[in-house]
Amino acid sequence: MTAPWPYPRWIAHRGAGKLAPENTLAAFRLGAQHGYRMFECDAKLSSDGVPFLMHDATLARTTNAAKVLGAGASPTGGDHSWAALAQLDAGHWHARQYAGEPLPTLDNIAHFCLANGYFLNIEIKPTPGHEATTGRVVAEHAARLWRGQAVPPLLSSFQPEALAGAQATAAHLPRALLVDTLWDGCLDVARQLGCVALVCNHALWDAALVHKVQGLGLRCLSYTVNDEWAAQRLIALGTDGIITDRVDLFSPAG
Ligand code: G3P
Ligand code: MG
Repeated sequence: MTAPWPYPRWIAHRGAGKLAPENTLAAFRLGAQHGYRMFECDAKLSSDGVPFLMHDATLARTTNAAKVLGAGASPTGGDHSWAALAQLDAGHWHARQYAGEPLPTLDNIAHFCLANGYFLNIEIKPTPGHEATTGRVVAEHAARLWRGQAVPPLLSSFQPEALAGAQATAAHLPRALLVDTLWDGCLDVARQLGCVALVCNHALWDAALVHKVQGLGLRCLSYTVNDEWAAQRLIALGTDGIITDRVDLFSPAG
């Protein structure tokens, strides 16, 4: 029996895809300006356990860490305290107009979403080696931040250990397994983890897989869909959610 699905079909990847610095509040605001009401973000932990938004394990691509923390500092985001990470510029790498944009905490993003009635998909993206702890802490924060809300955030991860940590901490929060390939036993793992959805690399979906996954009572979501033909295919297959960078191409009303 498939549970009711409270989320919209269209989900803005990392806030607004590539149109603004990923995983920042500026990106969420831009995605919202394009009409998006649900957002995906990547969350990991600082060394002192603060969940913050960042995709990569390392700071180099999306911050000015080398300048602020010094060339000798660890390149790994999760090796630094939140006090240090909060000093970084996470916008200038993208464009001058975003210079000074800070890394957001998960709490910052939660407040933005809750104040505006937006939905959130938190991808638990642990620093390697910190899978279970990241799942636990992200779920703990999410449970506190969304307490009493009708629609909780969807917690997803490529890492079963992270989802197990989330399940152990806040079993009531919906979970989804992310897969880039259909590895052996992935559907069994999704079921064992009490997942409500499977989020696939969009190319993996075909009618047989949709049928199988729906038969297990799971919803079918896709990442990262940036072409019209791919979106049409997924909609025709009867899938439930599309994560896209192209907030400027796809109208979320569709
Ligand atoms: O959550 C869907 C998608 O974001 C997974 O891939 O690498 O963009 O985090 P990635
Ligand atoms: Mg992601």
